[in-house]
Amino acid sequence: MQTDVSLKPYHTFGIEVEARLFTEFHSLEELQTLLPTLRTTPFLVCGGGSNMLFTRNFDGLLARNCILGIHEISRTEKEVILESGAGENWHQLVESCVAMGYGGLENLSLIPGCVGASPMQNIGAYGVEIKDVFEYLDAVEIATGEIKRFYAEDCAFGYRESIFKSELKNQYIICKVAFRLSLYPTVNTSYGIIEAELERLSVHVPTIKDVSQAVINIRKSKLPDPSQLGNAGSFFKNPVVPEAVLDKIRTSYEKVPSYPAGEGTVKLAAGWLIEQAGWKGKRFGAVGVHELQALVLVNYGGGTGKEVYDLSQGIIEDVQHKFGVTLEREVNIY
Ligand code: EPU
Repeated sequence: MQTDVSLKPYHTFGIEVEARLFTEFHSLEELQTLLPTLRTTPFLVCGGGSNMLFTRNFDGLLARNCILGIHEISRTEKEVILESGAGENWHQLVESCVAMGYGGLENLSLIPGCVGASPMQNIGAYGVEIKDVFEYLDAVEIATGEIKRFYAEDCAFGYRESIFKSELKNQYIICKVAFRLSLYPTVNTSYGIIEAELERLSVHVPTIKDVSQAVINIRKSKLPDPSQLGNAGSFFKNPVVPEAVLDKIRTSYEKVPSYPAGEGTVKLAAGWLIEQAGWKGKRFGAVGVHELQALVLVNYGGGTGKEVYDLSQGIIEDVQHKFGVTLEREVNIY
């Protein structure tokens, strides 16, 4: 265990903060030996640190999940179940699946972070969420050390939500995640921008490799690379509001983007709201709102977590004032 460790290399916002204690675990056995400490010390578990904002030094233990290994568990004529260690890099897993011709993860190409975090917030992009391909996960219960298997129905998956962010928060550590992938994949190009990119690439009968490439191109064209510019992807969730709120916005903005969300509600695009409120591309010292995607807050270098947080608060209040919509942060704040 190390003391007073800089967390800059361990999270994608690149904020200069320290943890009082830091360690990594590479196996279930190493995790088991850590459990007594986790029961008595404030702790955080991280993988790629791609959804974290530190507003101060962390007075506890940051434990980095480095459990690796990708294994085939079983297969039928049509499908394969692939199990991955929680510490595997997400995009490398997607790339391996695409290379092997296993379909299901290609729309989720280039999402930063590790496999263990993917069910935690049911990551999603371009028409696919992890819950669509999720088979099970194995997690260690901190209180007892027992390993429990969770199937999809146990995880309470929602939009960027799971039981591990709510009821079971800080109670389990995800060690392995298994996915059900197709050996005869049908591609999902329902998200308009993917179709447009495939068209641009002159691809008429897309394979999963083509879809993955299209997603990579789209993401690279508007989302900043955390290794170049500190950020944590979408800083806010897209808000789900009653249809009446949309109708009101429509009276001034005819083309407001919206997606049906069931039971008289619609999902609005937070990036659109923030852009219309005039924040896109605005820079405040070392932090700002990304110039190509208003949903992403960035650290140009040397910014503090407090500065990013205050910026997000200013955005929330302004969007509330202008549109009557309350944005919720997607990034975890510490
Ligand atoms: N838009 C704007 N201005 C902006 C950004 C977006 O007007 O600055 C508009 C777009 O024109 C479009 C709509 O908002 O009409 C939606 O934009 P986009 O398709 O880029 O997706 P998003 O809703 O902004 C969500 C996810 C992303 C994911 C994309 C693609 C959330 C919070 N974000 O963004 O996920 O990659 O869809 O599926 O749901 C992440 O979670 O970190 C993330 C990047």
